[in-house]
Amino acid sequence: MYPQKNLVLEAKSNLLQNYKRLPVEFTDGDGVYLYDNEGGEYLDFLCGIAVTGFGHSNSIIKRAVEEQLNSVWHVSNLFESSEQEILAKKLAHKSGLEKVFFCNSGTEANEAAIKFARKYGGEKTSIITAIGGFHGRTMGSLSASAQVKLWEGFHPLTPGFKYVPFNDAEAIRNSLTKDVIAIMLEPIQGEAGIILPSPGYLKEVEEICDEFGLLLILDEVQTGIGRTGKFFAHQWYNVHPDIITAAKGIANGLPLGATILSGKIAECIKPGDHGSTFGGNPLSVAAANSVLNLLSAETMAEISHIGNLFLNELIKINSPLIKNVRGLGLMIGIEFSEMAPASQIVELLLQKKVVACVAGRNTLRLLPPFIITKKHIIQFIESFTSILKAFHLDK
Ligand SMILES: Cc1ncc(COP(=O)(O)O)c(C=O)c1O
Repeated sequence: MYPQKNLVLEAKSNLLQNYKRLPVEFTDGDGVYLYDNEGGEYLDFLCGIAVTGFGHSNSIIKRAVEEQLNSVWHVSNLFESSEQEILAKKLAHKSGLEKVFFCNSGTEANEAAIKFARKYGGEKTSIITAIGGFHGRTMGSLSASAQVKLWEGFHPLTPGFKYVPFNDAEAIRNSLTKDVIAIMLEPIQGEAGIILPSPGYLKEVEEICDEFGLLLILDEVQTGIGRTGKFFAHQWYNVHPDIITAAKGIANGLPLGATILSGKIAECIKPGDHGSTFGGNPLSVAAANSVLNLLSAETMAEISHIGNLFLNELIKINSPLIKNVRGLGLMIGIEFSEMAPASQIVELLLQKKVVACVAGRNTLRLLPPFIITKKHIIQFIESFTSILKAFHLDK
């Protein structure tokens, strides 16, 4: 059986107990697999929460980072960086936007987006975001994340946010006031449980932005960098944001965030307006340049193909415990009925040496690496269906 958490050890730990950690330590990783400290092999269908898209110990990314490590690993943004320039050019090209600010994480990328939108807006400072959305844990991004449970104990929030239901363009129209400068959304809500935009929703939001001169900010921290089978998820929906934020998968596990913005917004930002000591550090940027080279059109087509295949296999599973299966590319959610708590399914999967996590109220979130093959899908489905059967019979 799965080992119980050692509560005495937990009480003695000097780590802040802000995470509910599962009792396994991974000490090695190779491709699609993670290894625990006893050599146990785990199928990694979580990817460090949408981060290690090209798998663990990827030799090409590793070589790029090693080369950088052997030259210089920190300089600061007081000096020029041709590697940052190369990465920024690639991101500008992929997004159709012009300028890039580098930071270290998703929440920082969103903080920058909020600041840049406000600088551009002048007197107009309000930003509309969607209920259930998640943009990070620092005060600005937290205040943009319309989830009451995240706010408890942390008031007062940063003012200037308005919250509307996701997938409801009319609600946006109804909450427009003169002080609104931007609409900020995840194209697919990740933390909320892999909630896809309904047909036409994002396009309608873009039309509202055009009509009222608002900025469209898309948080692609989880959905971006190939995860859904396009470089950015919004590219499936033919919309053109003014600001895009990215992080997670961009450097395959090294810390990097990026805020990508249009020329008209960039013009408002002057030296000293924003910055970061570590942002765009040489090791992360070396990894990211390598990730972007690997993320060819063929790779993204493959992500889309294998993602569809996986989704279809999951849809075929006939179990009273499953309420809904949904996703795009390799971002998939399995929503369970009340009978099956997703957190318990995650623990049972871990016992079977499969790594996944929970999102939303009761959804299993699957974010496998881009390098999975049919063999890994079969391995997952076998473990998953045996758990569903045992779980169902137990009840
Ligand atoms: C859509 C989205 N935005 C922002 C964040 C915050 O990113 P980070 O944890 O790197 O600050 C996350 C993290 O899960 C996310 O999913």
